Amino acid sequence: MSPSAGSVRPLAALASGPLRGRIRIPGDKSISHRALMLGALAIGETVIEGLLEGGDVLATAEAMRAFGATVTRQAPGRWTVNGLGVGGLLEPEDVVDFGNAGTGVRLAMGLASNQATTVTFTGDASLRRRPMGRILDPLRRMGVQVLARSKDRLPLTLKGPDVALPIDYRVPVASAQVKSAVLLAGLNAPGVTRLVEPVPTRDHTERMLAAFGAAIEIETNADGERVISLEGQRDLKPQSVEVPGDPSAAAFPIVAALIVEGSDITVESVLLNPLRSGLLETLIEMGGDITIEKRRTVGGESVGDIRVRASRLRAVNVPAGRAPSMIDEYPILAVAASFAEGRTVMEGLGELRVKESDRIAAVAAGLAANGIACEEGPESLVVTGRTGTGGGRVTTHLDHRIAMSFLVLGLATADRVAIDDAAPIATSFPEFRDLMTGLGARFEELEPPAS
Ligand code: S3P
Repeated sequence: MSPSAGSVRPLAALASGPLRGRIRIPGDKSISHRALMLGALAIGETVIEGLLEGGDVLATAEAMRAFGATVTRQAPGRWTVNGLGVGGLLEPEDVVDFGNAGTGVRLAMGLASNQATTVTFTGDASLRRRPMGRILDPLRRMGVQVLARSKDRLPLTLKGPDVALPIDYRVPVASAQVKSAVLLAGLNAPGVTRLVEPVPTRDHTERMLAAFGAAIEIETNADGERVISLEGQRDLKPQSVEVPGDPSAAAFPIVAALIVEGSDITVESVLLNPLRSGLLETLIEMGGDITIEKRRTVGGESVGDIRVRASRLRAVNVPAGRAPSMIDEYPILAVAASFAEGRTVMEGLGELRVKESDRIAAVAAGLAANGIACEEGPESLVVTGRTGTGGGRVTTHLDHRIAMSFLVLGLATADRVAIDDAAPIATSFPEFRDLMTGLGARFEELEPPAS
């Protein structure tokens, strides 16, 4: 089946008893994509432990095969990649389909641009609506030619230059995907590719490039901005990569435990990178009873076990500056805010309009369907807690995080919450339903609409 295909699976979440137990969530999605891609560029065998086996990452694994790398699933979560060297990827014989995976396709466009191959990329209906100009602009400056049916939207054909130009680039949006695409393209450009990042975003690409032996340096300039310099045309050395648990997946059981009365759960081995920890910070400010146990280092990243007990939450103002460190977590934060005393104000959310769905609109509509007071601004959301009791049906727009957020809502509202389609959850967190059920969550499958 192509990553873009699939059938609709409506699901309801029912009011649930206390959630109890310990769970281990799957590997981090961002790190999983990057491990496969850098593995494909390193000659020799890269071993990845704890790879997320969700649809998005599987699409990247398939793409790396299409580029000629040998990618093998040795055991659940344990994968090996035999790469082809920087500049050594082959031209795929067919269109490369990334399904729902924005990170996969944007980073792969950078990868494919550092050599003279012609590659056509596509994705599902959600991905074909998302803006690609932010990636294509710097790539064009590096010498890449772009052919598009519709302006800067997938499907797109990219023809890499014979010799890529290293560029100096100021990242105009707070986006780790843009930063990463330029760095990956810079890997095979002769000379130094230099990026200025005014607002720090997740740094997994930089960390992993350094671990694979790339010539990368990070400094802070006089204005306090991060400056990343990468010297191209250096070999990468294969690595053993241990992928820590995904904090963006952990967010769902964590919020569920805070809002379902009597809950007490522990989520093990979660990545605690400060550039990903905005949600935890916010939930603690809201009065969430959250403690980090056994803090340790795994594969160069800080991880810990997160213990969460049900809590009376109070509303907070979430500063715009925190958005990059919790950009994927606003839908589930809005669910937590639905149970907090007062008005939670979330600002600086412009980027949410161009995620897997328009997440500001999708969250506002979903909360309204469940009677929860919510004000939607162009770049903001305000949620007034304890105003609704559920009972709604939510449209998820092919967005896994909207689907999981509203299922979590339904575990704690008096009336059940239904979503139109649970299938996209498999893109990032295939074990979601089983793990949540194991903790005590109740779900009910609904009839799919007659086709
Ligand atoms: C990601 C970066 C973020 C995030 C996405 C994963 C990454 O996107 O929303 O889920 O792995 O680099 P942007 O770069 O668009 O902010």
